[in-house]
Amino acid sequence: MYLGIDIGTSGVKVVLIDDAQTDIDSASSAVDIHRPQSGFSEQNPDWWWQATQRAVSFIQSRHPKELSAVKSIGLSGQMHGLVALDQHNRPLRQAILWNDTRCAAEAAMLDNIKAFREIGGNAVMPGFTAPKAQWMRHHEPALFAQIETILLPKDYIRFCLSGAKISDMSDASGTLWLDIAKRCWSEPLLEACGLTPAQMPELVEGSAPSAHLSSEIARQWGMSADVVIAGGAGDNAASAIGLGVIAAGQGLISLGTSGVVFSVTDQFAPAADRGAHAFCHALPNSWHQMGVILSASDCVSWLEEITGFSVSALVEKMLATDLSETAPLFHPYLSGERTPHNNADACGAFFGVKRHHHQGDLMRAVLQGVAFAISDAYDVLEQAGGVPSSLLATGGGSQNETWISYIASIIGSPVKIPLHADMGAALGAARLAMLASGSPIKQVCYGPECDQMMLPDPDLRRQLSSAREKSQQLYTMMAGFNSSP
Ligand code: XUL
Repeated sequence: MYLGIDIGTSGVKVVLIDDAQTDIDSASSAVDIHRPQSGFSEQNPDWWWQATQRAVSFIQSRHPKELSAVKSIGLSGQMHGLVALDQHNRPLRQAILWNDTRCAAEAAMLDNIKAFREIGGNAVMPGFTAPKAQWMRHHEPALFAQIETILLPKDYIRFCLSGAKISDMSDASGTLWLDIAKRCWSEPLLEACGLTPAQMPELVEGSAPSAHLSSEIARQWGMSADVVIAGGAGDNAASAIGLGVIAAGQGLISLGTSGVVFSVTDQFAPAADRGAHAFCHALPNSWHQMGVILSASDCVSWLEEITGFSVSALVEKMLATDLSETAPLFHPYLSGERTPHNNADACGAFFGVKRHHHQGDLMRAVLQGVAFAISDAYDVLEQAGGVPSSLLATGGGSQNETWISYIASIIGSPVKIPLHADMGAALGAARLAMLASGSPIKQVCYGPECDQMMLPDPDLRRQLSSAREKSQQLYTMMAGFNSSP
């Protein structure tokens, strides 16, 4: 048995699989986001640990025997979050998350240091860990001076599970302190932020063993004392492992809280200018490029909140709308934007709303607006030379066929929908656990069963292209409203 634990932004998901990768059980537990000010997004690291324990205890109550047979555990998690620990290994403050944009000024300052793009392989954007630490250095100097160790979200959970401070290459890439080509911490990049390698966790490959489960947690979960914890991965690399996206030319589109276009490369392939990310993959000698939009399914969650309708009710209302009517335009920049705009101050917007529009039209506008943003990120990868020849959809939004058909039509490329897309990053984490226990990559990382392939529809493409063009013009025209006053 293998356990995969994914520390997501909206909650923790745990899956238990056997040697044949049969889904024995899975459980999730929600985690709140704390937004004390506009642009701020924080979680208490202990909320992740409590949610992990809750989710595992659900599985324990249903499958105690199977849980006790776990050989290894894999971890995956939301990337980039800054977890700063003091000398007693307690968090000095709430974790500052990937979609927190408070450090735009620090990101711009670090981006002027050439080494970040050359060694770190990426333009410095507020999402990454380095500018978050730099914000803490400027705004909370007394706390910054007490930092003993910096961990990423899933690595904090590894610390709770084992007492070991370790990260993996894919997640460590997103700090911007990693030398991405050499797969080791970069002293010059750390030094630029007033930090040293001694404050960083040890590094292992995602598929390698990292530590053993502590005897206390092993006892609590009814497991043996020799359970191995795999290196694990950032959630996007973990989703790729879960979908068998491991060779150059393979890719995925993720519609989770964030939206991601992910493409495997067989070497370090930086293309920082328009905001493409170049990171290590979770397997040795493998890298990937990625375009990231900050709000994908999060826009749908927001629409649910402000209309009071559930997502299924909104989809029903949307399907009842008159298709010959043009939906309003929607800019999905509710938390600013990363690829391609790199603009923490970009705003969300509806445009073209008329008296007869109702919630269904707004839902269509949201799905189209996010599809346009995903296509912008796809174009960036195309220009960077990393566009995948095969694409799988993943994340909560991937089960919405209308949404995937919009994306397939605009990018002009088929997108396959896996039968069990909801297993996502947690399955990838469980697969990394299998690899850390010695199973061969080819045997573990195969592609998913797909029940549908959404093909580009030329009529839809024509219709959406003109709306997308207007939406892009609107972003340029509204430049003054998409920047700090
Ligand atoms: C990737 C990114 C997001 C988070 C969310 O760069 O910031 O996809 O990993 O889970």
